[in-house]
Amino acid sequence: MEKLLEQIEAYKAEMAALGEADAEAFRIKYLGTKGLVKTVMGEMKHVAVENKKEAGQLLNEFKLFTEARYEELKSKSTNPQGSANGKPTGPGGQSTGNNPDLSLPADPLPLGSRHPISIVKNKIISIFQRLGFAVAEGPEIEDDFHNFTALNLPENHPARDMQDTFYISQNPDWLLRTHTSSVQVREMQKGNLPIRIICPGRVYRNETISARAHCFFHQVEGLYIAENVSFADLKQTLYFFVQEMFGKPASSADREVKVRFRPSYFPFTEPSAEMDISCLICGGEGCSVCKKTGWVEILGCGMVHPNVLDNCGIDSNKYTGFAFGMGIERITMLKYQIKDLRLFSENDARFLKQFTSAV
Ligand code: DAH
Repeated sequence: MEKLLEQIEAYKAEMAALGEADAEAFRIKYLGTKGLVKTVMGEMKHVAVENKKEAGQLLNEFKLFTEARYEELKSKSTNPQGSANGKPTGPGGQSTGNNPDLSLPADPLPLGSRHPISIVKNKIISIFQRLGFAVAEGPEIEDDFHNFTALNLPENHPARDMQDTFYISQNPDWLLRTHTSSVQVREMQKGNLPIRIICPGRVYRNETISARAHCFFHQVEGLYIAENVSFADLKQTLYFFVQEMFGKPASSADREVKVRFRPSYFPFTEPSAEMDISCLICGGEGCSVCKKTGWVEILGCGMVHPNVLDNCGIDSNKYTGFAFGMGIERITMLKYQIKDLRLFSENDARFLKQFTSAV
């Protein structure tokens, strides 16, 4: 009995002295099938009968002590940096207890990226700002006058059908603007001449959604009104825009972007034109994007119709001006070679994270 007591005390001291012992090695040494606890238990047979009860209690206590020590070591090893007091650890395994490991790297915070439409919109704005254009905005819910009538599309004008319109059921005079040309009307009505503005914004049309059409998209409208503004000013402004937006570095001059104007019709401009650029995908040789023509249309433009100036209270005998309107989605698709318009509004992070601000 005495020998047993001595032994137990010796083992207990040994266990208490173990600092950061490996929990598994501890388990095998003390609690395994051939471990020391079992061996000491085996000594029971040598204990005198009258001492058996007391020895049994001692051995049981010893076993519980050993198991508790094992649990303590185990929790330290699954929680290596922390204290074994069961406090939660922070993300990445850092202890929120007394011993944080300051050398551990922080959890990375992924950076978001701008939507490609925003990137291109901002680029367009910065190009025109360098030419002295200011940004103007207007409401997305418009009235018939600003979206149509003032722009020389009186009621029953056939060109109203060019843009299938969403009307607001509460008021037949209200609609979702079909183009940002409505903003030029609002700016002209203010009468602060000369006017030199660009108007970026969202527009709506009742179209079936496909790879090439959507019921909402974005435009940038441009307007310059002063004395003696000519079509030559319009062309020069747009040439500058195209070179800044799509121009290649001087080293690859073979892919220089070409520009052409085609006569067209818009009720709010006279004369009117559409502007094409040489296809960026094939360099003008002909491919599926340019439908084998080598050219892609990027905007409509023209000299502001005198009726529009008069409708907005500007003296058309004194002032002239040019206007243009382009779809931001179209420019973005050309810039990044995106073939399906629907990608812009699906919010698929795998698509969106590919774009950086550098265009
Ligand atoms: N508003 C036209 C559209 O949505 C685009 C446009 C064409 C705007 C010619 C203009 C312009 O200012 O002069 O299709």
